[in-house]
Formats: sequence, C-alpha cells, structure tokens
Amino acid sequence: MKEILPHQPVLYKEIIHLLQPHRAGRYVDGTLGAGGHAWGILKASEPDGLVLGFDVDTHAMQLARARLEEFGQRAILVHDSFTNLTDQLTAIGWEKVDGIVLDLGLSSMQLDTPDRGFSFRKDAFLDMRFDLRNPVRAVDLVNNLSEKELADLLYTFGEERRSRKVARAIARARPIETTQQLASVVADATSSGKPGMHPATRTFQALRIAVNQELDSLQEILPQAVDSLNPNGRFAVISYHSLEDRIVKQFFRRESTDCICPPKQPICNCGHLASIRRITRRPVRPQEDEIEHNPRARSARLRVAEKLSTE
Ligand SMILES: C[S@@+](CC[C@H](N)C(=O)[O-])C[C@H]1O[C@@H](n2cnc3c(N)ncnc32)[C@H](O)[C@@H]1O
Repeated sequence: MKEILPHQPVLYKEIIHLLQPHRAGRYVDGTLGAGGHAWGILKASEPDGLVLGFDVDTHAMQLARARLEEFGQRAILVHDSFTNLTDQLTAIGWEKVDGIVLDLGLSSMQLDTPDRGFSFRKDAFLDMRFDLRNPVRAVDLVNNLSEKELADLLYTFGEERRSRKVARAIARARPIETTQQLASVVADATSSGKPGMHPATRTFQALRIAVNQELDSLQEILPQAVDSLNPNGRFAVISYHSLEDRIVKQFFRRESTDCICPPKQPICNCGHLASIRRITRRPVRPQEDEIEHNPRARSARLRVAEKLSTE
C-alpha cells in the first residue's frame, strides 16, 4: 500500500491496524484532507466496504475526490462539517457505522498554501478559514476584538503565557492585515519563547482554533460519534496539541466508566453507564522513522475506543 500512496497520512498504519476495516463495513472519515486515511480504509475493506467522508475545505474535497475516484460509489463525499454526522448519516440512510476516524486540525496542503493565511513563513492575507463559507477570518478577530478578548483567546486556545503582552502589542499595531505583519509584531513583543519555536506559533494556533471553532466542533462530534457506532465499532482520533488531546482523553475516560459520581459520594445516583472501552490507554505516538520522514507528525497522538456491545 505504501508505494501507491503519494503522500502518507499521519499514523496511517496504526489507524488501519486499530480501526480494523473489514469487507461490507461502513466507515466515516470526518476529516478527509487529501483522502489518505479514507483510501486505506477503502482498500482494507475491499471489495464492498463503504466510506462516508467529510471536509469543509473545497480544495481538500477536490483532492480527496481525485484520490478516491478508483473506488467509485464506495466513497460518498460530503462538503460539510463532521459536526453534522448524525444528519448526514440519516440523509444517506445509514443508521450505524463500524468505524470513525478523525485526523484533527489542518492539513499540510492548507499550511503550505500561502494564500490560506495559516503560516507566517510566507506573507499572506490573514484568513485561516478551513471553510470559506465561514464569515469570520483571522483578520477580523485580530482587528476587532478588544485587547482583553484577544488576550483571553491567546491564553485559552494558544496556551500563551505572555498573552497580555502579545495582545497589547497587537492592539497597538492595528490594523494588521498579513501573516508576516502579525508574526513580526508578536516576535518584537516577546523576544524569546520555547527554544526552536517561533514566538508567534502559539498566536497563530490560537487564532486558527478560534476562527474554525475547532474545540467546540470536537466537543460536538464526540458524543455523536459514539452514538453512531455499531457494537464493537471503533472510533479513532488523532490530535495535534494538548487542548484537543485533553478533550478526547477526558471524554474517553468518562464514557468508559459506569459511575461518574464524585469519589466521596457513598451511593451512586448518577445512573451513568459506560458506552465504550478504551483500546489505547496511552496515546499512540508516531515512530521515529515517521517523524523523520514527516516532521509535522511529531506532535500527533492517537486515541482509539470501541463501542460496547451491551447497549
Ligand atoms: C489533518 S487534515 C486530514 C488529512 C487526512 N487524514 C488525509 O489522510 O489526508 C484535517 C482536515 O480536516 C478538515 N476539517 C477540519 N475541521 C473540520 C470539520 N469540522 N469538519 C470537516 N472537516 C474538517 C480540514 O479542512 C483538513 O482538510
């Protein structure tokens, strides 16, 4: 399989191994990107496994459509957010599925296309939208939020410890229209950061997460995904930073536990029942050779859960 794929998606072997796609299975790829994981699922579920794929990015949809063309009607692709999973399943007449994969965040194609405005390596208009139908761009947040709102955003979504200082510098330098303008304002305000990390990295991460409402979308999809699985169906999530990973970890922990009453409460009255079991206790990380080949895989963490058959 390796030779046929032009661009290997992150944790590809691990996803296929843990998701265990099989013939006649029905699967969801919530984040198609260039269609790499979907391709692997369709290959592994030959001759009649099906994939419903989502992406909000029109360009990603084109790439995925081209890559998955060989599978014909086995690949059903929708230009929509994975947060509409339940509705889209109903629309195509699927009740439950056998596996769901989410490979969160942005793709290398998005990062490497300067006019999308995700990267400070090239100068571009500050856009950062995955979905061009979204009315809010990074430039709108940078120029219209109050200094306090900006500081809160940088702290919450970028875990930027110098959030007030950065927000003050941005507020003073407004209007800011381009990626490199923003990067240099942040760099001037914060002389040093984590070694090897550009001082504006956290600012860019925070803005991207806010523009695309990434954490809200993740919170929305997690319960829908579990509800949509057949017994023994598997749910795999790759996250790229601690904010995402924490949400997935806490959700998996809670949903794999029966009682969720406070520990000191003598008698359970929550009525909560576990709906999944965790397949990965600790997150799966890429092997060194994958990181060498694709440095962006370095921060990836994969967690997988399986739907219990008791419901
Ligand atoms: C890391 S890439 C996925 C790469 C893909 N697994 C592959 O094999 O090429 C993440 C993709 O998810 C898309 N995305 C982000 N949020 C989304 C959402 N809420 N709904 C659907 N797609 C989303 C992005 O546009 C991007 O194309």
